[in-house]
Amino acid sequence: MERIYLDNGATSYPKAPGVAKAMIHYIEDIGTNINRGGYKSAYSAAEVVLDTRERLIKLFNYSNSNNVIFTPNITYSLNFLIKGLLKPGDHCIVTSMEHNAVMRPVMQMYKKGVDFTKIKCDIEGRLDPKDIEKHIKENTKVVIMTHASNVCGTIMPIYEVGKICKKHNIKFVVDSAQTAGAFNIDMKEMNIDGLAFTGHKGLLGPQGIGGFIITDEMAEIMEPLVSGGTGSMSDSEEIPPFMPDKFESGTINIPGIFGLNEALKYIEKEGIESIREKELELTRLFIKGVKTLENVRLVGIDGTEGRTAVVSIDCKDRDNAEISYLLDKDFGIATRCGLHCAPSAHKTLDTFPQGTVRFSFSHFNTEQEIEYTIDVLNKILKG
Ligand code: ALA
Repeated sequence: MERIYLDNGATSYPKAPGVAKAMIHYIEDIGTNINRGGYKSAYSAAEVVLDTRERLIKLFNYSNSNNVIFTPNITYSLNFLIKGLLKPGDHCIVTSMEHNAVMRPVMQMYKKGVDFTKIKCDIEGRLDPKDIEKHIKENTKVVIMTHASNVCGTIMPIYEVGKICKKHNIKFVVDSAQTAGAFNIDMKEMNIDGLAFTGHKGLLGPQGIGGFIITDEMAEIMEPLVSGGTGSMSDSEEIPPFMPDKFESGTINIPGIFGLNEALKYIEKEGIESIREKELELTRLFIKGVKTLENVRLVGIDGTEGRTAVVSIDCKDRDNAEISYLLDKDFGIATRCGLHCAPSAHKTLDTFPQGTVRFSFSHFNTEQEIEYTIDVLNKILKG
């Protein structure tokens, strides 16, 4: 039984061609640190790291590659942004569709005297940007929100919220976990001050490498969450004030960056539009199939407009965890059930506490896999 992998919302598989080879090349043939040694192989690793920063600013339309900070993943990135920016007495705004990578650091800060407002989205996960504007207060420092729900795929009105933030001189932090690599994200057009990304989902790179990009002003006002050696200003026990060193202490994940570099080249070659188009076709086909199933609720938006390639279903009168288990055990179909680290999103979608069975596609999936999955679901639900 071959595996059909439909859990790309958790991490993508397969990775872009050449990712593993690039990582092996670094480990076997280069293996040196960067910013620490003055020899040729250290310079060649540093070139790839710089090239990766440059590819990232091109992808997300930012102007300065020094403002790309590498972290292990987007959870770290969001922690850096949220805890680095907020101080007791500040207020921030989030939506009810956030992942715990946003909510847990926000709750930690709340206990330290940071106030927050959670804007309720509708039962399809849609946000009305006007609700953000209504809740801006004197001490509101930042709006922090996901670009798209990891539970039901609903895309958030990032452009509109970015405009509101600019109008009110509030910072805008975006969690791109479910969109980077499959959507155009333009930091300038969208007025994003802090963009958190991860390498191992839509960017098709390995686990263990993520990051964030911040504006110069953010770099100025944010406190670094982590401090230590940077290979620069080694005569001082103070954190270097310049970028990226201010936020990038300790040895970074260089094999991960070699892998991500290769993945970014692949995405550039394929084109985001064509990746998105293929994912949409598969999503359309899957949703069409879901609608033929009895006693199944399609969670979120009915259709592909305003959606990513993430689709959740709630099987009435059945245990969603059992459905997910049977999909895997008897048919080799990998999905993710439960609450997807997003309890607030599930409450918004009226799928709490039962959760959903989540199917998340990549452009490497095929129409045959989707059709087979619908047939299998039909069988399981009737059985
Ligand atoms: N947050 C990831 C998911 O939705 C891991 O599965």
